[in-house]
Amino acid sequence: MRRVITYGTFDLLHYGHINLLRRARALGDYLIVALSTDEFNWNEKKKRCYFSYEERKLLLEAIRYVDLVIPEESWEQKRRDVHLYQADTFVIGDDWTGKFDFLREEGIEVVYLPRTPEISTTQIKQEIAAKDG
Ligand code: CTP
Repeated sequence: MRRVITYGTFDLLHYGHINLLRRARALGDYLIVALSTDEFNWNEKKKRCYFSYEERKLLLEAIRYVDLVIPEESWEQKRRDVHLYQADTFVIGDDWTGKFDFLREEGIEVVYLPRTPEISTTQIKQEIAAKDG
């Protein structure tokens, strides 16, 4: 069994996320999503989520491509996670290209997938705010 792991916030789930998850799952047989906690998002990314961690987790668990959701609470946990969850492949969108190459030192494949154009959580929030304003 080939296990794939990915990381992200996945707030206001959109089709760019689904495309990413579908292609990530297709790289193996089992997909683990490390989902940023509300604290990690705020402290490290300065992002406040619309949906709480538990709400975002509920949505991800309902997606057919996702097998397991775990919390992402620090930047450093990736080196530990790849062994703990016996991942063969680390995958993330190409907005992160090069940032996680160091994981190859752990014997894991690192893949950057092209982002789906013209959609992001930030953009959704901005467009709704502009329409309502
Ligand atoms: N992603 C993607 N295509 C998009 C948006 C996101 O492939 N159009 C990928 C990201 O590259 C990442 C994962 O989906 O691997 C989760 O991204 P996340 O940052 O949660 O979503 P964004 O919509 O980019 O959110 P934000 O605008 O807050 O950065």
